[in-house]
Amino acid sequence: MPSADTFDVHPIACFVQKYLAKATLSIDPFARNKRWATHTNDLNPETRAEHHMDAEEFLWMLRDQGVRADLAILDPPYSPRQIAECYKAAGRSVGMKETQNAALYSRVKHALAQVLAPDAVVLSFGWNSAGLGKKYGMEIIELLTVCHGGAHNDTICIAEKQPTQQQRLL
Ligand SMILES: C[S@@+](CC[C@H](N)C(=O)[O-])C[C@H]1O[C@@H](n2cnc3c(N)ncnc32)[C@H](O)[C@@H]1O
Repeated sequence: MPSADTFDVHPIACFVQKYLAKATLSIDPFARNKRWATHTNDLNPETRAEHHMDAEEFLWMLRDQGVRADLAILDPPYSPRQIAECYKAAGRSVGMKETQNAALYSRVKHALAQVLAPDAVVLSFGWNSAGLGKKYGMEIIELLTVCHGGAHNDTICIAEKQPTQQQRLL
């Protein structure tokens, strides 16, 4: 079954843990209760994340601290409705502007790009496989589609990385 705690779904947990095992410094701006990454954040103060800031502000804070991550996890709300639910649960006011998921993803990806090490892997979860994409020089290195049955949307999990100079030349 799908879960608000995305990484409680076994194949997704395995996917994330495989990359975490290879990472030195990881960041998770939408962590909810998972403290698997080195630096964790979630808007909702009731969650067990280390920080409770807007994801973009959290990433600018890390950038200012000189953090460079070799693994980033992006598991935001997947739809305007989910964003509205998250903001309400976090005790924040929510209007048209806040619920635009494309706007949220765009500003978070821009800030995330500033804290990535050159060889970083980015894991993204949602209902599409857009990830950071070519705009940020990324290529998909692994794609996992998890079917939850019935009429539920699949969870699409991707891992991306910048190709090496040698791979670019091929
Ligand atoms: C899909 S859940 C993350 C689930 C987590 N990966 C897990 O496996 O348990 C998305 C989380 O993003 C948080 N969130 C929503 N909008 C946010 C924002 N603008 N900044 C930071 N966190 C936000 C929500 O409170 C929610 O806990």
